[in-house]
Amino acid sequence: MNKEELISLLSKNDTYVSGQELCEHFGVSRTAIWKAIKQLEKEGYLIEAVNNKGYRLRENDEMMSATEISRYMETKIMGQNLIYHQETDSTNLDVKRLAEEGAVHGTLVVADKQTAGRGRRGRAWISPAGASVYMSLLLRPQCNPDKASAITLVSALAIVQAARELGMQDCGIKWPNDVVANGKKLCGILTEMSAEIDAIHYVVPGIGINVNQETFDEEIAKTATSFCMELGHKVNRSKLISRILYYFEQDYELFIKTYDLSNLVDKYNHFLVNCGKEVRVLDPKGEFTGTALGVNEDGELLVRTENDTVVTVYAGEVSVRGIYGYV
Ligand code: BTN
Repeated sequence: MNKEELISLLSKNDTYVSGQELCEHFGVSRTAIWKAIKQLEKEGYLIEAVNNKGYRLRENDEMMSATEISRYMETKIMGQNLIYHQETDSTNLDVKRLAEEGAVHGTLVVADKQTAGRGRRGRAWISPAGASVYMSLLLRPQCNPDKASAITLVSALAIVQAARELGMQDCGIKWPNDVVANGKKLCGILTEMSAEIDAIHYVVPGIGINVNQETFDEEIAKTATSFCMELGHKVNRSKLISRILYYFEQDYELFIKTYDLSNLVDKYNHFLVNCGKEVRVLDPKGEFTGTALGVNEDGELLVRTENDTVVTVYAGEVSVRGIYGYV
C-alpha cells in the first residue's frame, strides 16, 4: 500500500473516508488499513477514527517526516533519494558520508535536529528540534571546482522563490547567500566540496532555515527572523522543503548549461536586497564602501566605489555589510 496515496485520500475534502472505501481502493483487508493508519500515527500524523464514519487526517503544519516531504515533492531527480533523520550530527556530514559510499546525485538528507550543526567560517549552527529545516543535498556537477561556488547562489535563489510562494513576499538575498526578510537573516547556507585540482567529486549545499520559531534569544533576535515571526503563522516545513527542491531543480538545470549564472543572473539580481544600496566591503586587504550594482555571471558582486570605479568582489574573500546594519 502506498503511504503517500493513503495520506492524500485521508486529507481530501476534509471529510471522513470509510474503512470500506480504503479497503476497496487498495484491495487489502481492514486489518491492513488499520495497521497502515497506526504506522502513520507513529510518524506523527494526527488521524481521527470515528465509528461508522471512518478516518480523517487532521492537517498539522508542525509535522515533518519523510512521507510528508515526499508527498509534496514534484521533482525528477532532486530529493528523490531522501533520507530523513529525527536527529543527526550534521546533515552536511551525512551527505558527505553518503557521497563517499557512492550515493546518487540529488540525494537529500533532512533532519529535525542537529547535534553538531556547522555554519560558515568554522562557526557552529545551533540546531534544536521542532522549528527549523536542516537539509543538505548531494550534487555531482561535471565542471571545474572554481565553478562550484555559484551553486550556493543557485540555492539561495531557490529558497527565495519557495519562500515567496509560501507568502514571504518581501524576502530577498543578501549577497552572496543569506536569505533575509525585514533586514534579518532567515536562512544560512554552507556549501562544501570534495575535489581534485580539475575535477569535482561532489558538492554539498547545506541549508538551515528558521521556520516556526516564535522568538529568538536576545543575542540573535537583532539579526535573525523566522517565517512564523514574519507571517504570524506556522509554515509546513515539509512543503517548504519540497518547494525549495522544485525551484532548485529548475535553476540547477539552467546552471549546468553554462556552469555559471548566465541564465540566472537577472533573476538573482531581481531578488538581491543589496542592489543599488550602499555597502561596506570587509576585504582583508582593506575595507571600503560603495554602491552594490548586482552580481555578474560568476556570482561576483560588482561595487561602484566612491572614485567611480567598479570593483569585482569575490565571495570567498570578503563579506559585505549594509552601511546601517546587517543588510
Ligand atoms: C551560515 O553560517 O550561515 C550557514 C549555516 C548552514 C547551516 C546548515 S543546517 C543544514 C546543514 N548542516 C550543517 O551542519 N550546516 C548546514
